[in-house]
Amino acid sequence: MKIIKCHNYQEMCLCAAGIISEEIISCPSALLGLATGSTPVGIYKELVRRFNKGELDFSRIRTVNLDEYVGISPENPQSYRFFMDNNLFNLVNIDKANTHIPDGMETDPHKACRDYDEILDREGKTDIQLLGIGRNGHIGFNEPSDSFYPRTSCVKLAKSTIEANSRFFENSGHMPEQAYTMGFYDIINAKKIILAAYGKGKAEILNRALTGPITPQVPASILQLHPNLTVCLDEQAAALTTA
Ligand code: GLP
Repeated sequence: MKIIKCHNYQEMCLCAAGIISEEIISCPSALLGLATGSTPVGIYKELVRRFNKGELDFSRIRTVNLDEYVGISPENPQSYRFFMDNNLFNLVNIDKANTHIPDGMETDPHKACRDYDEILDREGKTDIQLLGIGRNGHIGFNEPSDSFYPRTSCVKLAKSTIEANSRFFENSGHMPEQAYTMGFYDIINAKKIILAAYGKGKAEILNRALTGPITPQVPASILQLHPNLTVCLDEQAAALTTA
């Protein structure tokens, strides 16, 4: 595990975007595993800036996202499809047909999950997986539980996650209480992983995830097992990390 402690959010974003850029340049048809939430916003901004400078070409890049809320349409500004389109895909020369996100409008959870697993199996290992971390240690929407579920599943969101994310839904109705999320096998199967986090609200859980026991009660703790993990943190998120 390599931990990069940056001074602030902006520097953390430059660091993570730099690693993703190297991947795109060295492998123009790379499969990127992408994340949503507030953490990657600045990372995507930096990738778009590099694209506009002519440094990056997304024309052959493929992507798979971690998760999507259940019952939410791609046109809903709170959907992760909308987030990805507006923060990255619409702003670079990626072919949207090569971008994949679980189908939040599929009402049969079994079908939604198996369909996404099929896509993941077809696309293969991600060359690089970008992750944020929830305040309770979740990755994707894999909430603390009794087991590391390997493949895509329909999860009931934890109370703390609903509390943390409902601010985004103030003007767009009720926040969904379920989500489809990529499972641990597919996350850990990535060739490289970047875990990015900022702010003091993440400091305690990061230390537990990176130095504590590997347990599904702290989902991100499984990342300790990955042979090529880079953790990009700002000063506040890194404050309690003894790793
Ligand atoms: C969200 C996403 C996660 C993300 C996490 C942290 O709900 N499902 O993939 O890493 O919660 O979000 P933020 O970056 O806003 O703190």
